[in-house]
Amino acid sequence: MSQPMNLVVYLARAGLGSRRSCDELIRNGAVTVNDEVVTFPRQKVEPEDVVLVDGEPVEARELRYFLVNKPRGVASTRRDPHAERVIVDLVPNGRILFPVGRLDVDTTGLIILTNDGVLANRLMHPRYGVPKTYVARVHGKVSRRALGTLRQGVDLEDGLTSPAEVNLKKQSAKTALVEITIHEGRKRQVRRMLAAVGLPVEELHRRRYGPIADKGLEPGGYRELAGDEVEALRRAGEDVAVAVGEEVEGQPLLLAAEAAPAAKPIRVDVPEAIVEVAAADDQGRETPLDESPVPAQDDSHA
Ligand code: URA
Repeated sequence: MSQPMNLVVYLARAGLGSRRSCDELIRNGAVTVNDEVVTFPRQKVEPEDVVLVDGEPVEARELRYFLVNKPRGVASTRRDPHAERVIVDLVPNGRILFPVGRLDVDTTGLIILTNDGVLANRLMHPRYGVPKTYVARVHGKVSRRALGTLRQGVDLEDGLTSPAEVNLKKQSAKTALVEITIHEGRKRQVRRMLAAVGLPVEELHRRRYGPIADKGLEPGGYRELAGDEVEALRRAGEDVAVAVGEEVEGQPLLLAAEAAPAAKPIRVDVPEAIVEVAAADDQGRETPLDESPVPAQDDSHA
């Protein structure tokens, strides 16, 4: 903790429960700050203050935010006995982090890892999720009709998908590159949407998560998010909270027991050899998925 924050936020970040349950703890008189019982959840706590809950010391964790370019074959969970590697192993000290959402094991691309459970839960809100942009290599010819259906909504077994932004980036003899931005996060959603319009996915790459994009991050690479990027994510999460008209965060990710001192300095690992996703166009040239001819994006993180 490097700056003052509300007592309730301090407790939630320390892994003591959702904001609501921390609020209750405070109002019930279980919390002291510098030996004084505090029952006002929004009281400011300074870095040097001593906070006790039921007489036990509490310390807010340092919050960490990383962007990882997941390679194929890595599971986007914290543990998976069947996977060779899991996403948190791509970042030093990554076992204290959680992935924000999931990518299929065969999907490549951007995923955020953090120990900020409040923000993670907001960003993963199932109904009002932030936009996520994918580029898919599909088998077949993409018709106008298919594009229209994808844009308007596809009738999947778990219901109609919400409107999506969809652009055909390239059509080759047998395959096409389709860019699609969805605002939900259902299981295997993009693959199922495309399959439903007769376009089975051969490769799938996520190139943007809300305000965050990074074309330069190599597969298997990671970097810590800059302060303005974290702020942009917070704003995206706040938009979610406003959209549902209530506090939407669920239980924070309880990591206190696992929290280890932050790894410093941050080093950038050279990933082990990872073959870049590529496809042949009509002339047999290779087109990596994350270099498909997409107009320059606004990466202003606004
Ligand atoms: N949609 C999918 O089908 N798979 C992913 O990994 C992400 C979105």
